[in-house]
Amino acid sequence: LAKVDRAERTDDARGELAARYDAVRAATLALTAALSAEDQMVQSMADVSPTKWHLAHTAWFFETFLLTPRLADYRAFDPAFAYLFNSYYEAAGERHPRPARGLLSRPGLDRVLAYRAHVDAAMALLLAGCAATDRDEMAALVELGLNHEQQHQELILSDIKHVFWTNPLRPAYRPPAPRAAHAGRPAAWIRIPGGLVQIGAQGDGFAFDNEGPRHKVWLESFSISDRLVTCGEWLEFVEDGGYRRPEFWLSDGWAAVQREGWTAPLYWTEEDEGDWSLFSLTGTRPLDPREPVCHVSFYEADAFARWAGKRLPTEAEWEVAAQAAALGEEHFGLHPAPAGAEAGLRQLAGQVWQWTASPYVSYPGYRAPDGALGEYNGKFMANQMVLRGGACTTPPGHARPTYRNFYPPAARWMFGGLRLADA
Ligand SMILES: [Fe+2]
Repeated sequence: LAKVDRAERTDDARGELAARYDAVRAATLALTAALSAEDQMVQSMADVSPTKWHLAHTAWFFETFLLTPRLADYRAFDPAFAYLFNSYYEAAGERHPRPARGLLSRPGLDRVLAYRAHVDAAMALLLAGCAATDRDEMAALVELGLNHEQQHQELILSDIKHVFWTNPLRPAYRPPAPRAAHAGRPAAWIRIPGGLVQIGAQGDGFAFDNEGPRHKVWLESFSISDRLVTCGEWLEFVEDGGYRRPEFWLSDGWAAVQREGWTAPLYWTEEDEGDWSLFSLTGTRPLDPREPVCHVSFYEADAFARWAGKRLPTEAEWEVAAQAAALGEEHFGLHPAPAGAEAGLRQLAGQVWQWTASPYVSYPGYRAPDGALGEYNGKFMANQMVLRGGACTTPPGHARPTYRNFYPPAARWMFGGLRLADA
């Protein structure tokens, strides 16, 4: 009887994983359904990948790390795709240069969709036929592939936003929907006592390798804002000459202001003196001073904090503050929304990724996994800064208090904003 129970549990677990695989893969296609083949080919800058490339690359991930090594008699859909759709895995061979992804008119969108269907059919066979001895290891790889796919879902939205912004017609990805009616509210400070604390993933549930090991950190007592910095507050910074006064900026940040000609966050336009509009995934509209500021770089977030007489929290401070509050999935959509009236630490996830003062480096005791998948996170641990929380475009259930997002300090096309800290 025990054996039967175990077999049933195995079937249940297998069925759950297969259902989750189907749901995540379908969610990717739902995001791209309204985009034409032409929309899906554009690469508006080197950091942006065409939608079609994201669709193919996420299929390549399952093909390369699950199907080829684990499904007997698996036949690659097209051997040339390994070169086209490998992102950055040196161990997986040569690859097409990232800035040239927008040149791939072939394979066409139809063929990329057929590639996804081919991979999905083979994955269904793999999931159904998996031997019990392989099950845990395979389930962990599938879970990694699904979390990878979710990261690309968010990238699809960040990237198509930049693509449409670059088009003088400024098309909307989706028609505008009614926006949150919250009035916004003044920020309040939450005091967090210092001491010896622990941060990092515990090992219960999925986490990326870079979220661990869990380890001790010494923190001084600090204060953290209970909500995100708003567009209205950012406008005061702009109007006070924030982008023209070097005293607020790090040296590299001031160089970026000069080089890039920054005068406001990305996607802001001064239509008339003091009259700003904002481009979003639902088109162009007047700037809303209540909503969280979004699409600022680390350099801008850091300069704003200095102008305000405050600072950015470290990632350990952010995580310890978040441990005491519910992460809360307050708002999933295409643009961040103003804070509600509820007291307490709010807007942790579901609005914008929050820049921290912490460089993206390994935690004590971290070792990248062996093999190609060791390249997933570990090899990027230089010259980037950590962002915490999660954005409105982060798929539901994907964010965690231990999640470490990371970007170069001048990047601002992803949904990055900030929350202030103080001594
Ligand atoms: Fe990827």
